[in-house]
Amino acid sequence: MPEVQIAASVLSCDFGNLERELAAVSTADLLHLDIMDGHYVPNLSFGQPLIARISELSDLPLDAHLMVTNPADHIDILADLGVKMFSFHQECEHHVHRLVQRIKDRGMQAGIALNPAVPVSTLDCILPDLDYVLLMSVNPGFSGQKFIPSVFAKIKTLKEMIKRQDLPVRIEVDGGVTAENAAALISAGVNILVSASYIFGSKNYAAAISGLRGL
Ligand code: DX5
Ligand code: ZN
Repeated sequence: MPEVQIAASVLSCDFGNLERELAAVSTADLLHLDIMDGHYVPNLSFGQPLIARISELSDLPLDAHLMVTNPADHIDILADLGVKMFSFHQECEHHVHRLVQRIKDRGMQAGIALNPAVPVSTLDCILPDLDYVLLMSVNPGFSGQKFIPSVFAKIKTLKEMIKRQDLPVRIEVDGGVTAENAAALISAGVNILVSASYIFGSKNYAAAISGLRGL
């Protein structure tokens, strides 16, 4: 099976025991940070102080997923905190191309996140500028939701678009990922799997991470 990266989403961790929780997911490849503003999505998550602490406590690269109406306002803050990957939902930004360049200028990888009902054709004009695309396989806002299988058709189309243009763009899938659907997602060509509840809801986080890798 092709190699996949596992991004542990801290949204489902026990924030009262952050140090222990982060140590327990150290075998993941990335830490996924779901930043929610209570406007773009009907939920609030966490901001700068907690991300600063997370970045002190973990050596894993930080993958920020912005579910906010004003992603541009967070670029400098997150870059200063050492975030490596920055994705945003394109409907939140009028000037998508400029925002992508600003993210890259601050040394971060730029990604666009697509909700389940947004087709990959909306990326036609920006795909060559992206480092990755985040395909939502649940509606954004909460962990612990059920996987929406129509993402498989989007992975296939996106894979073809990437191949046709011979681009180094990676595909990240986020929402409802478990050891049951991970193998099919990896076979479909997904490069990064995000998981919150499957990892943090299991007894042994390292075993859950291995399970997602198909090991
Ligand atoms: C949902 C977030 C996801 C979430 C995934 O809005 O973007 O990253 O944490 O949670 P699970 O893996 O439980 O579906
Ligand atoms: Zn996410």
